Amino acid sequence: MAREISTVGVVGLGTMGAGIAEVLARTGITVIAVEADAAGVGRGRAHIEHSTGRAVAKDKLDAGARADLLARISYTTALSGLADADLVVEAIPESLDLKARVFAELDRIVRPEVILASNTSSLSITRISVHTGRPGKVVGLHFFNPAPVLRLTEVVRTVVTEPDVVADVVEFTRRLGKEPVVIGDRAGFIANALLFGYLNHAVSMYESRYATREDLDAAMRFGCGYPMGPLALLDLIGLDTAYEILETMYAQSRNRLHAPTPVLKQMITAGLLGRKSGRGFYTYDGPDSPTVV
Ligand code: 3HC
Repeated sequence: MAREISTVGVVGLGTMGAGIAEVLARTGITVIAVEADAAGVGRGRAHIEHSTGRAVAKDKLDAGARADLLARISYTTALSGLADADLVVEAIPESLDLKARVFAELDRIVRPEVILASNTSSLSITRISVHTGRPGKVVGLHFFNPAPVLRLTEVVRTVVTEPDVVADVVEFTRRLGKEPVVIGDRAGFIANALLFGYLNHAVSMYESRYATREDLDAAMRFGCGYPMGPLALLDLIGLDTAYEILETMYAQSRNRLHAPTPVLKQMITAGLLGRKSGRGFYTYDGPDSPTVV
């Protein structure tokens, strides 16, 4: 029989964690959101308030439903607050050490049958799972940015993930209005493995001054119908996140397509991380309004 999932823990309230919490609460699920400190909680809460405010302004959500959604999310700085969770989704920064520690602790806190899911975009679910006493109940559950808008979820199974765990997570993400795909544990899964070779190639065209950023982005928007061009998309994803994904995929595949273009590292070192830092390939007035420098 499928697991009853009505309370979900979300660990980490960065762009992805906050988006995931919003998606869950919009579906009527009680969310317990965990951040490392009060400042992190404040940023996560502000992100969710901003995103749902925009959804109301664009007629995607009514004001009453927004108030109910916000009331379904409680915040804490202690993982022990997740003792009653029916499922936990982790969305903390992409560090295996950090994730290993969080999963080991979650394993001691939640009930034995509870599924532990990671939103990692490129780290090995298998390597995360072995830090728990329940590797068969650990999966990848990868959302796409912006999570409230994009419908794909990648459900990642390892060689020991139990079939009913995969089935329950697939069913659960359908309940969220998502389109799940199921894949094995390989860096980049499906979408990032295909997408990041293309994004990296666009950065190398930009670096060699083969084309301007505007022309690169216009080509893919108007020539291929993509909703945004590759450099604008990298600004949305975050250059630091993109670099980590490329580096992990390159380490595993040795495919030159995934060898991070050097200018990416230089931009990150200079603090140009994309929208979240106000400047990446473009300069931003606020999180929603790109302006060209
Ligand atoms: N709740 C519900 N609906 C919302 C919403 C919310 N919080 N916020 C926005 N929406 C709706 C809008 O109302 C709009 O609906 P409409 O098309 O019916 O009018 C739609 O979602 C699009 O949103 P916006 O109006 O805010 O903005 P744009 O039309 O400019 O689209 C975009 C922005 C959704 C980011 C679009 O450009 C896009 O899809 N870009 C590609 C993003 C992409 O490729 N993401 C994947 C990145 S890779 C990744 O995430 C993997 C990770 O591991 C790195």
